[in-house]
Amino acid sequence: MLYVLDKQNSVLGNFIKEIRSVEVQNDLLRFRKNIERIAQVMCYEISKTLNYKTESVKTPLGVAPTNVVADKIVVASILRAGLAMHNGVLDYFDGAENCFVSAYRKYIDENNFDVHIEYIAAPSLEGKTIILCDPMLATGSSMELAYKALFSHGSPARVIVCSIVSTEYAVDYISKVMPNCDIYTAVLDPELNSHKYIVPGLGDCGDLAFGEKL
Ligand code: URA
Repeated sequence: MLYVLDKQNSVLGNFIKEIRSVEVQNDLLRFRKNIERIAQVMCYEISKTLNYKTESVKTPLGVAPTNVVADKIVVASILRAGLAMHNGVLDYFDGAENCFVSAYRKYIDENNFDVHIEYIAAPSLEGKTIILCDPMLATGSSMELAYKALFSHGSPARVIVCSIVSTEYAVDYISKVMPNCDIYTAVLDPELNSHKYIVPGLGDCGDLAFGEKL
């Protein structure tokens, strides 16, 4: 199932405008904060699809039954840009476990690259609900490799892909190679340029959040 959050008007549009804007996006702190805020809004939407259990809570005046999340959640972020979303997700699922996967583009020439995974740090993922974060879903190839790497740590009950800007190409690709996953994206952009950057997109999300790399 694909969820595109900006299909419905909300304050999310303000955050998206700022991360895209060449006039605002170079403020690193503000950029990271906006990515975190978008991740929080996304988690609220995701939370509507989770499993719940009823627990009683003692108030000063009595006992109130309350439905709380029953899923065992693992927040998994693809390094480095996924880190910008990670704390936003943890703000909502504060008891969640954490997983980190590295994916990088190894360029063969100016326009062609392979994606490599070289590092994964994760708890057991058996039977858990994985929230897999990568803010830019350009081709879907990093996401596919990260997803496959997760299975070295057990079989999750559910994998939820969380992105901020995705292309239709990547969404179609992921739906084929990761057929049981749900995909949440804040926006869906039309195209990729020859360097596989999303257009209109926002530029290099990792650089904007954490500074330019060599
Ligand atoms: N990664 C980014 O940071 N931006 C893109 O447009 C595509 C991949």
